[in-house]
Amino acid sequence: MRRLYVFDTTLRDGEQSLGITLNVKEKLEIGHQLVKLGVDIIEAGFPASSPGDMESVRTIAKELKGVIICGLTRAVVQDIDICAEALRQAEYPRIHTGIGVSQVHMQKKLKLTPDQVVERAVAAVKYAKKFVSDVEFYAEDAFRSEPSFLVRVVDEVIRAGATVVNIPDTVGYANPWEYGELISFVINNVKNIDKALVSVHCHNDLGMATANSLAGIKAGASQVEGTINGIGERAGNTSLEEVIMSIYTRRDGYGVETKVNTREISATSRLVSRITGVTVPDHKAIVGANAFVHASGIHQDGVLKDRETYEIIQPEIIGVPQNVISLTARSGRHALQHCLEVLGYEIEGTQLDEVYQRFLQLADHKQEVFDQDLYVLMGDTGSVANNILLQDLSISTNGVEMATATVTLEIEGMMITDAACGNGPVNALFNTIDRITGNKATLEDYTLKSVTRSSEALGEATVKLRYEDGHLVLGKGFSTDIIEASAKAYINALAKRINIG
Ligand code: KIV
Ligand code: ZN
Repeated sequence: MRRLYVFDTTLRDGEQSLGITLNVKEKLEIGHQLVKLGVDIIEAGFPASSPGDMESVRTIAKELKGVIICGLTRAVVQDIDICAEALRQAEYPRIHTGIGVSQVHMQKKLKLTPDQVVERAVAAVKYAKKFVSDVEFYAEDAFRSEPSFLVRVVDEVIRAGATVVNIPDTVGYANPWEYGELISFVINNVKNIDKALVSVHCHNDLGMATANSLAGIKAGASQVEGTINGIGERAGNTSLEEVIMSIYTRRDGYGVETKVNTREISATSRLVSRITGVTVPDHKAIVGANAFVHASGIHQDGVLKDRETYEIIQPEIIGVPQNVISLTARSGRHALQHCLEVLGYEIEGTQLDEVYQRFLQLADHKQEVFDQDLYVLMGDTGSVANNILLQDLSISTNGVEMATATVTLEIEGMMITDAACGNGPVNALFNTIDRITGNKATLEDYTLKSVTRSSEALGEATVKLRYEDGHLVLGKGFSTDIIEASAKAYINALAKRINIG
């Protein structure tokens, strides 16, 4: 078996596309989970892009051990300086530098000749090598480049010291057989290719990112790049969980192995979805809510007779728990602790007491508390650092259109009550919170969905606030009362902004 290295770029290519700035704490939380998942490389950000990204990469480099921490740069001295500084405390630092190599990138974007591009690529790799021994070079838009030119660039950067060469399909244009052929072409024609690892990095514009990555792996690539849940620029990146499970399920076909702990896949997917606010579609391969649900009578009958009739992956393998205890308002701490343990949460003492109290509040409103409710319960941290708390809320409507909300917030220990009108309860609610907090950001998006299926389901509200400086901040709130969930989501977004300044 060949070793396949898993390079996660959720925090860089994934975050880049969202328009949402994840703060340092959120990035670190995802980073810790990626270490648990067992990825080999975490691309933590693009440090030269903003002071916030620089800080996130620096913190991740300092905190996460036993994993390669990578930072992205353009082939620009200043980017590399900033990246090297951000990575200074990493146990295993990697600089990921590169430049566009297709005609359209060289002529239109960079306005450089092919010779100048080679010169810049080589200079960037040599400069990065002054700081770290592990330098990955990306040949941006490699798939649309002239293959003989690509071979020349790759050959030169390996001579300059690149340890990994990344051959991206930046715009998701490839067909699987063509991408596989390009990887074979590079492997067969770059003379010094044995001195570096070949990496595949695909985008999903035509829905083929996973298939293309697998074709590249089959052709000999030893590193795969992607994101959790496939988040990323435009239609996204390769979904790492799909690649990992394809390789796991069809080991016969690839001859490679990873060191990923597949049992952490489900937890990682949920965490990324919760923190980024990007919902995973129910039908998404591997991590969608319906990925293991058998709905039709014929399928149910088959699965009851033998799982293998319609199941190619056992849910436990990706960490989807098989829970047998039903939780209700009468359940004790021990039952709750057991069910949380099955879901991968290990809590005890005062933390358990605190979660148990929130569990009882929820269970009072529901006949049964399901796994999905528990995930929410564990993720519901209220407003960040509790600097804004919802203390009271009432809505009155007179007729169909107008509503009045009266809200009491506790802001840093001070109780403030106010009221405002709006065209509907949610509008009135948000107007009141704006009056109390002096919020000037505009509401860019508001969604409401039920987390579980019964009529007493827990509602999840998501709010996106756009600030004048362009930052988009996401807030989430959960409650069996949808107005309360909406208030909590709005307050959560405001509190986050206050925390990150
Ligand atoms: O898609 C791409 O080409 C990239 C590079 C910057 C690695 O994300
Ligand atoms: Zn990319």
